[in-house]
Amino acid sequence: METYILAIETSCDETAAAIIKNGTDIISNVVSSQIESHKRFGGVVPEIASRHHVEQITIVIEEALTKANMTPSELTAVAVTEGPGLVGALLIGINAAKAFAFAHGLPIVGTHHIAGHIYANNLVQPMEFPLLALVVSGGHTEIVLMNEHGHFELIGETRDDAAGEAYDKVARVLNLPYPGGPHIDKLAHEADEAVKFPRIWLEEGSYDFSFSGLKSAVINYKHNMDQRGEEIVAAHVAKGFQDSVVEVLTAKTLRAAREFNVKQVIAAGGVSANKGLRTSLEETFAAEGIPFYVPPLNLCTDNAAMIGAAAHYMFVAGERGNMAMNGRPGMEL
Ligand code: KG4
Ligand code: ZN
Repeated sequence: METYILAIETSCDETAAAIIKNGTDIISNVVSSQIESHKRFGGVVPEIASRHHVEQITIVIEEALTKANMTPSELTAVAVTEGPGLVGALLIGINAAKAFAFAHGLPIVGTHHIAGHIYANNLVQPMEFPLLALVVSGGHTEIVLMNEHGHFELIGETRDDAAGEAYDKVARVLNLPYPGGPHIDKLAHEADEAVKFPRIWLEEGSYDFSFSGLKSAVINYKHNMDQRGEEIVAAHVAKGFQDSVVEVLTAKTLRAAREFNVKQVIAAGGVSANKGLRTSLEETFAAEGIPFYVPPLNLCTDNAAMIGAAAHYMFVAGERGNMAMNGRPGMEL
């Protein structure tokens, strides 16, 4: 079934719209980022995010149509991120999607944000099942098993901070700007030495993660050094922290890939932009002989193209939202 889906994403701090053909081809992909507005607060301020979405949403949707050189009558459906995310932010996208769908007589599909991150890969090469996805973002750290399109099985998740959250918090300790992930990544690559921090494995056999202990270890290290009147070397701390995160993420993903005998491993979410993590996963799965993919940077971080890709398979399976759709901040996969 051929589809042209207009997808909308406003779950956090990017206002995004895209038009996707058949769940695989990007016809247009527009992202308006608000990162600059949140920087001085060191994190996303929900109220500011909602205001930006209100200002940007119609502009972004129109741009997606213009760039695709398409009219609403050529569309098959409208897809929108239903959750999880900031409720006020989600609602802007959902209301825009409902209004657009109503005005143009189009069906609407509510999509899960993490399903979107996983499906970003489908825009680069076809997904093959069973597939294992490592989802690492500012709000998520999950290992997800997929046996077919649209079916997600949660194998492991973080019990406290998300990987990206830990990156952002450690970045703050090191006085680096928000979002801290890319800065720590860069520093870690410049370092010739690493401070030794713990690896948090949890119980034997568990695919869950915990990053708050690691974050505390970094804070304690800085505190102890301050008390001794010694300067920390930010790059050594960054490398020590990154080494710990990357080692645990890689080891658990590898163990799960073996246990479930998967045909493909993919990484998704903002933290999959991390060079250290990419290299580690690439090398590990090359040695293991399992194809491993990460989408290009602009599809790793929040965007609407990934939502359109996920929505295609839901639409084809007959899933439809309606005008009662609401923002679901804690939506499960
Ligand atoms: O997926 P995303 O854009 O938004 C969420 O849905 O959360 O992920 C944002 C997160 C932030 O925590 C940011 O610091 C992190 O991804 N991030 C990185 C890198 N680039 C972005 N973390 C580590 N290394 C990077 N290169
Ligand atoms: Zn995201």
